[in-house]
Amino acid sequence: MQNYVRIAGTGSYLPEKILTNFDLEKMVETSDEWIRTRTGIAQRHIAAKDEATSDMGAVAATNALEMAGMTPEDIDLIIVATITPDVPFPNTGCYIQKKIGAKNATAFSVEAACSGFVFASDVAVSMLDGKRYKRALVVGAEKMSSIVDWEDRSTCVLFGDAAGAMILEAVENEEENSYIGAQLGTDGNFSDILYVPGGGSRMPLDEIALNEKLNCLRMSGQEVFKQAVNTMSRVSVDLLGQTGIDFDQVRWLVPHQANIRIINAIRKKLRLPEERCYVNVDRIGNSSAATIPVAIDEIVRNGDIQKGDLLLTVAFGGGLTWGSSILRWTKD
Ligand code: UT7
Repeated sequence: MQNYVRIAGTGSYLPEKILTNFDLEKMVETSDEWIRTRTGIAQRHIAAKDEATSDMGAVAATNALEMAGMTPEDIDLIIVATITPDVPFPNTGCYIQKKIGAKNATAFSVEAACSGFVFASDVAVSMLDGKRYKRALVVGAEKMSSIVDWEDRSTCVLFGDAAGAMILEAVENEEENSYIGAQLGTDGNFSDILYVPGGGSRMPLDEIALNEKLNCLRMSGQEVFKQAVNTMSRVSVDLLGQTGIDFDQVRWLVPHQANIRIINAIRKKLRLPEERCYVNVDRIGNSSAATIPVAIDEIVRNGDIQKGDLLLTVAFGGGLTWGSSILRWTKD
């Protein structure tokens, strides 16, 4: 018998502290006007010093479980997308498992930068065969503030911290199916346009590396911008073609929230009207793997989705990695 996968619940979490562009004006040579016009960002959320990625992920997961009407014991698979793990190992999924008490789950993490949630959901769907795994918790969680160079104005204004979660459940009834399809891709030839140079086996963090801030994110902004627009438009058009779905059938385009100019360029290439493109980059900034699950949770909780509506997600990040998925909301 064929198995399908339904979205049973969504959840999200934003740290309490808000860092505005005006706050940043006091930290680096920048202005609210520059940040708004170049990125569309007005503020971002910043996790507390003692708040790790798994702490945020656990809250988002609990909210998603609540919506799904499930207990932590119901979950048998946890996949966490993050590039800001609590520690190099154990994986952040194990910490979330412990925090929420999901004692029956198998947990691991996926590292695909800003495309991480699209990758992690696709892995979850392929594992939800209904025999070994029935209910997966997929989390995108990031403490980007922990890898940002707060003296580098070209990157520190862009990022924020957040977590989003989704519960996926194996079902037999096709009418409940939420996962229409996905396309993923990577190109390691561009690995040096968006990366963290140190902290891994190539460059362990000794005093010299720390002095040179090799633990912080580096980005060739304009190159990333160009690649992001071209790749995200291409992968979403390809996926729509592959699944036979027309743009007109898509209720919400849910793009990775990196820059309003990137989002608008993609939307225009896809010829989608503004009111069908979800934007929260102004309030949250770029929270890497968390942007898409947070956006979906906001759409759901705001009541801006109806049974049968289609969501087209599209993401892009360091690697390079990219991914797009088509989801159908099938809950009442
Ligand atoms: O999740 C994926 C990750 N990242 C992205 O998607 C980001 C992709 N890239 C971008 O969003 C844009 O390239 C940025 C927002 C990062 C930069 O915008 P830009 O229009 O490409 O600006 P630029 O890098 O060409 O810089 C223009 C000027 C430069 O000054 P000069 O050389 O013209 O004198 C920069 O030094 O703006 C300067 N600048 C700033 N000025 C004020 C750079 N950052 C700032 C700043 N405030 N924060």
